[in-house]
Amino acid sequence: MKPNRNSGRAERMSAQPRLHQRAAQVQQYGTVNLNLPLELEEPVRLEMTEQLNQLLADTISIRDLYKKCHWQVAGPTFYQLHLLFDKHFDEQMGLVDGIAERIQTLGGISLAMAADVAEETQIERPPRGREEVPAQLSRLLDAHQIIIRECRKLAPRASELGDEVTNDLVVSEVLRTNETQVWFLSEHLVAMPLVHATNGEAGEATPSIKKTA
Ligand SMILES: [Fe+2]
Repeated sequence: MKPNRNSGRAERMSAQPRLHQRAAQVQQYGTVNLNLPLELEEPVRLEMTEQLNQLLADTISIRDLYKKCHWQVAGPTFYQLHLLFDKHFDEQMGLVDGIAERIQTLGGISLAMAADVAEETQIERPPRGREEVPAQLSRLLDAHQIIIRECRKLAPRASELGDEVTNDLVVSEVLRTNETQVWFLSEHLVAMPLVHATNGEAGEATPSIKKTA
């Protein structure tokens, strides 16, 4: 029987997708590529990627907390908060991508999956069930405070190490966005009357129509 000289080639050219493949990792989490033309030494990039991964885990957590609140919010302010929570979710989504890609740019490995994020985040795990609006808002504000605290620590350290782009990302995008979102949330926790003013002077009240005799 003649050997089929084309059999090997035919196998390589098969249109069959090769499914269920696994392979060894090409880079371990917690490491950075040694040689990159960034003029940032390996120890600097290691420290920055470690701190950025903490910020990433917490930013992914608050992003998902916003979607939980978007879905589960209830009550008279449902519509405005439903929309506001989703707007903040979208903004946090942008931050997640920016932080993750900064880590990769520095030669590191970004956290990505929910199980890994859950192990690393400093944000308190909420219950699966629905909470009332003031508890939702307070929980979100607590999460923002954790992220803002991290930013205020990370930004000057990045500058100190000469990593000005990480400083810029943290200050101009992460910190600025979180501060603004804190403003929008915290104004909802101010107890204001909806119909009857309680602090106005009596003389400023809308005059009622007097019945004439
Ligand atoms: Fe939605």
